[in-house]
Amino acid sequence: MKGVVLAGGTGTRLYPATMACSKQLIPIYDKPMIYYSLAVLMLLGVRDILIISTSKDVPMFKDLLKDGEQFGVHFSYMVQEKPRGIADAFIVGKDFIGTDSVCLILGDNLFYGADFEDSLNKAANFRDGAVIFGYFVKNPKDFGVVEFSKDGKVLSIEEKPKEPKSNFAVPGLYFYDNDVLEIANNIKYSNRGELEITAVNDIYLKREKLRVEVLKDGTAWFDTGTHNDLLSACNFVQSVQTRQRVYIGCLEEIAYKKGFIDKASLLKLAEPMLKTDYGQHILYICEKY
Ligand code: TTP
Repeated sequence: MKGVVLAGGTGTRLYPATMACSKQLIPIYDKPMIYYSLAVLMLLGVRDILIISTSKDVPMFKDLLKDGEQFGVHFSYMVQEKPRGIADAFIVGKDFIGTDSVCLILGDNLFYGADFEDSLNKAANFRDGAVIFGYFVKNPKDFGVVEFSKDGKVLSIEEKPKEPKSNFAVPGLYFYDNDVLEIANNIKYSNRGELEITAVNDIYLKREKLRVEVLKDGTAWFDTGTHNDLLSACNFVQSVQTRQRVYIGCLEEIAYKKGFIDKASLLKLAEPMLKTDYGQHILYICEKY
């Protein structure tokens, strides 16, 4: 399976913080936002990852993340000329995806919870069709919303509905078989001028090939698109890391625990960061495992 991180967009809801630099490069507490999305793909064992961003921001992502060898993975980069919508990831990333299945994650989403890795692995274990997630929210109007029947069957999926049929929002993490390339290529622009991921999911639903995994209670999901959401995410990460000694989105640790890199490489990655708790945490991982 290939991995794609969509990290372009305009970030206007985070102005002026994102006037000069990409939203996904600003930190959630102690690390760039994109780390959290990359962490999800690496936790899944996905090692071939495409990062899509704007022509202005791709060089900065390259500067930060290089070719991925330091984490034992491979990063490719492509430019999305205009923010044409989330489904455009499959038009921009067509050649990269080739004949594979794909996991797409938005660069401003953060997931954390004891059961999250289980949900993730369960979702990734699909043979064909699409798997997306449902997450209980109080403000479903702001999201794609999925409606279930009493026995848990998916009935409908709507983008930012005025009258939501449920409280289950669809987070920015999606699994698709290779049909997604053909589907994304054939959908039309929505009224707000975007190629909507909800339109893609709706086609899978009509083909009876859409599965929705409801994220378990205890799982945290943040979409960090506004200043308040970003601050909540920062506070959350800070609390978990200092109180539980568990790091969220530490790519070096994941790379090591997944066996992508050895202990000597992990130590080398810690070296320039030893003045920070982040660097010290990597040392702790070296000693403990
Ligand atoms: P949004 O938060 O919906 O859009 P945005 O980042 O442009 O922000 P704003 O509304 O504040 O202007 O995007 C969700 C994620 O998807 C975010 O990580 C950016 C990314 N994205 C793209 O990379 N390209 C796109 O065409 C769209 C629509 C989003």
